[in-house]
Amino acid sequence: MKLIVLCLVMTVFCGVISLNTWTDVPNQASVAHEYSKTPVADNAAARANADDKPLREAYRDYFPIGTAVSPSMIADAKRAKFIATQYSSITPMNGMKAKYIHPEEKTYSWAEADQAVDFAQKNNMKVRGHTLIWFQKMPDWFFMDGNDYASKEKIMQRIDEHVATVINRYKGKVYCWDVVNEAYQFFGSAPVTPKRAKIYDMIGSEYIERAFIAARKADPSAKLFYNDNGFEEPDRRNRIFKYLKAKKEMGIPIDGIGMQSHYGVEGINEGYLQETIDMFASIGLDVQVTELDVSIYPKRENKVGNGRVLEATEIAGLSDQYTKEIQQDQGDVFDIVFRTCRKMRGNVTGVTMWSPYDKDNYLTEMLNKKNYAYLFNENLTPKACYYRIVNF
Ligand code: GLA
Repeated sequence: MKLIVLCLVMTVFCGVISLNTWTDVPNQASVAHEYSKTPVADNAAARANADDKPLREAYRDYFPIGTAVSPSMIADAKRAKFIATQYSSITPMNGMKAKYIHPEEKTYSWAEADQAVDFAQKNNMKVRGHTLIWFQKMPDWFFMDGNDYASKEKIMQRIDEHVATVINRYKGKVYCWDVVNEAYQFFGSAPVTPKRAKIYDMIGSEYIERAFIAARKADPSAKLFYNDNGFEEPDRRNRIFKYLKAKKEMGIPIDGIGMQSHYGVEGINEGYLQETIDMFASIGLDVQVTELDVSIYPKRENKVGNGRVLEATEIAGLSDQYTKEIQQDQGDVFDIVFRTCRKMRGNVTGVTMWSPYDKDNYLTEMLNKKNYAYLFNENLTPKACYYRIVNF
């Protein structure tokens, strides 16, 4: 009896400690970067038990399951039907990025984003708006005033105008926005050589705050996300945490973090993912997995810690065989992500794949090498990894 009471006291005590851990940047020792593997389920058995429920049904009580979509995917009747059957949320892959939706100061180019939003409306799907301000996809005119560079104030006003106009067009139809994408290298004194960008050089990191304030003003009901990659790198994650915590304390309206989650088949650490979700949830942020894929090639732990997949030259010599072993390792990664997110429903408010299926996927295009990073194959048939996440 005494032993039981002691265990209970210890459990409560440890729970309190771990809840408090994330009031500031966590102890590095607690997030050692090792990769764990969970036991591999017998895929054949899993498949036999599966009732081939669409993903959106399987996750109905948890969170929206999304996919990024390109215009050709939803223009094709068969693929569009498949996407609407399986997924309950979409993210326009490129159509809302500033460079494309706002190519000239007085010209908005709505067609691609409209097509995606209309598709979602017709099929009872949610839309994640992606992304209002991303340094890599700003149009050149944004920084110019005639032949001169624009003043800081002018650029700030353009942020206000751009954010308000795009959000207003889709008010009530887009439930959350990646207001700012990939600004990590601009947070204060980043440890790595900054990938300098005009928006940072000309305004400094204030652009981030300005965009969130403008977004909240434009649609007080939309959830506002900061989206980035490389949360699997502890230093980077901790800096993002520290930065967002400080901004929230200043009153900047940030509602959630988007973890892009471009993973590799080498695996992810379940405890670490859990810690990351707990950490951001502890400061009142929703967490979403926003661009999930599990490449069949290992991901580099690269020096800048920005979580990119191996580059084309680095994987050129690797086999592109989608072996049973790779399929199992890949299934383990999906299993960890979805299991942890299910456990954390309420704090985790969405999981989005960066492609609905392996066909025409961006990893294959980017690396010029076959990849099989998603849940359905080229023929839109469920793969082993799909069965790992629908049977629970
Ligand atoms: C980042 C962006 C996405 C997409 C991918 C492709 O993750 O957030 O919109 O462009 O890169 O590399």
